[in-house]
Amino acid sequence: MPRITFVNGHYMQHLHAGIHIEDRGFQFSDGVYEVIAIRNKKLIDIESHLDRLHRSLYELSIPWPTTRRSFCIILREVIQRNRLANGSAYIQITRGRAARDFAYPDGMIPSLIIYARNAPKDTIESVAKGHKVVSKPDIRWKRSDIKTVSLLPAVMAKKAAMVEGAVEAWLVDEDGMVTEGTSSNAWIVTSNKELITRPTDNSILAGITRQTVLNLAKTAGVTFVERAFSLADAKLAKEAFCTSSTALVKPVIEIDNDRIGDGEVGPITKLLIRHYLEHMENPS
Ligand code: PDD
Repeated sequence: MPRITFVNGHYMQHLHAGIHIEDRGFQFSDGVYEVIAIRNKKLIDIESHLDRLHRSLYELSIPWPTTRRSFCIILREVIQRNRLANGSAYIQITRGRAARDFAYPDGMIPSLIIYARNAPKDTIESVAKGHKVVSKPDIRWKRSDIKTVSLLPAVMAKKAAMVEGAVEAWLVDEDGMVTEGTSSNAWIVTSNKELITRPTDNSILAGITRQTVLNLAKTAGVTFVERAFSLADAKLAKEAFCTSSTALVKPVIEIDNDRIGDGEVGPITKLLIRHYLEHMENPS
């Protein structure tokens, strides 16, 4: 469990950390968040995460609670105070506290919480294991590009997936195309060894891990294309995987009880796991 959490200007015992009941994050999910991997005490792809946080705040007209510089200082202080080497940092910014009303007043002061959680350091062996996913209809709103704390459809789909023995649900739109996972981006590798992931638009979150993996694929000479793929395409794929800051590159060997490829973690997935772990060891 985290020991020290930052809440609105104070470093507090995690056990006693709290927020007011009229915080709009609590009543309206009126806020945004980020999850950043920590490896060897370093925040992985920190600048990209802060750029995305900036965009999420901008889209919802929530001001930054601090300068970006102070923000980084607090973030690093939280990691240090928790004596954390590997794990993840959670950041949440809400519009702040006001008497409950759908229309928010002008000039609100945003709420900021930051905490960090310890996790075992991932290795090629711990990451390169095959997992099962199931498909679920994507019933989220039409701005999944904003990393808002309004996550109920994802919560329901992920829980249903876990009840069915899967690690993730791949969400499928009305045209039968896979958008993304509940908390990860979705990828396949075709029989022509082409790596495919959906292009970023309002229907998915522009994953930071997704962009890093695309960069690594390019450097490694893996042919890739950003295009939408259907659930049927996914079931015919040779390889499949999910990416996120906490799942890293997570191999998928079964979708809705259909085996992917030969049911083993494929060579392109393994290559990308290796490169991603190297990137975490030596972040640029
Ligand atoms: N989720 N898509 C969705 C809907 C996500 O919630 C996430 C991340 C991603 C991957 O983004 P990134 O590579 O930047 O982590 C894609 C985080 C891990 C979470 O909510 O816990």
